[in-house]
Amino acid sequence: KKIVFSAIQPSGQLTIGNYVGVIRQWIKMQNSYTCFYCIADLHAITIRHVSSELRKNILDTVSLYLACGINPRKNIIFLQSHVHQHAQLNWFLNCYTYCGELSRMTQFKNKSKRSIKNINSGLLNYPVLMASDILLYDTNVVPIGHDQIQHLELTRNIARRFNSCYGNIFTIPDKYVFGRNCNILSLLDPDKKMSKSDSNRNNVIFLLESIDSISKKIALAVTDSNSPPSIHYDIINKKGISNLLNIFSGLTDRTISNLELEFSGKSYQDFKSDIIEVISDFIKNLQSSYFYYRKNEDYLKKILNDGAFKACIKADTMLKKVKSAIGLI
Ligand code: TYM
Repeated sequence: KKIVFSAIQPSGQLTIGNYVGVIRQWIKMQNSYTCFYCIADLHAITIRHVSSELRKNILDTVSLYLACGINPRKNIIFLQSHVHQHAQLNWFLNCYTYCGELSRMTQFKNKSKRSIKNINSGLLNYPVLMASDILLYDTNVVPIGHDQIQHLELTRNIARRFNSCYGNIFTIPDKYVFGRNCNILSLLDPDKKMSKSDSNRNNVIFLLESIDSISKKIALAVTDSNSPPSIHYDIINKKGISNLLNIFSGLTDRTISNLELEFSGKSYQDFKSDIIEVISDFIKNLQSSYFYYRKNEDYLKKILNDGAFKACIKADTMLKKVKSAIGLI
């Protein structure tokens, strides 16, 4: 079986962008691949955080993985910090990555603009740790959203560079980006992505938020008032509506053209009340399952322990290969 690796940072509450953009693909992939679904807690500390919140976010994230339908018997679900090989490979790969490559990453540039007080070297090295995550497991495919494509390209370059020095040590991973859903945009400002760390919470639909609050946010979401009120997909001129169509289609598996047909001649209000219903149904089911798992911390920790045990075996094999290739004894 081919190997899939993907991860989410527990740096806040998960959003509907995370779900529609990647988690839905993870669920589909678990049947035909060997999947490593990681929680990237080491990445989450590149931004100043509160320890108790990180602890909570980690367990919330595991529970959400399970509630979304990621099966712990089929997949390896684990915490990045439990498998020390990630941090070790990170050091080795630092020595095969150029500072220029890292300072050119758009995510680094954006994040360092936002938090001028804390541009730490972890933030700069972030993509190298991500490369380590991926390359440790002989990964073939990495399902990611649009914002991570540049990091995956860098991963491939680092792997090729290392291989050109020492032979075929690393498998070169391919990205898997899911069509239009790979870039869910923010509700009030559809020129940027929906992000769990957005300071304006009205831009974001969180998986753990109340139906009432979600309905209000959808009601506020921009719908391109200066173009004629028609519900069709046009990501250049009608970003707001196109984004809502993407979310609708992502949650229902209905095609965009099918939705355009259903809503032709209808008002934005009709469309919004239907999408609120779709999101509410989804969120209600998800949250009831989430609360069921979240209550049982022992079970969650057992899943993480089992996952780390399995991940460690594979990661250790790769780390030994790398050390021996470099010449360490
Ligand atoms: P993170 O935690 O920001 O997001 C997790 C995944 O969700 C995708 N995503 C989106 N997709 C569509 N629309 C959106 N609005 C949206 N927002 C987020 C992201 O692209 C990502 O795939 N660095 C990663 C975590 C990571 C990782 C890895 C991913 C660490 N190691 C190795 C893949 C492989 C991150 O910050 O994702």
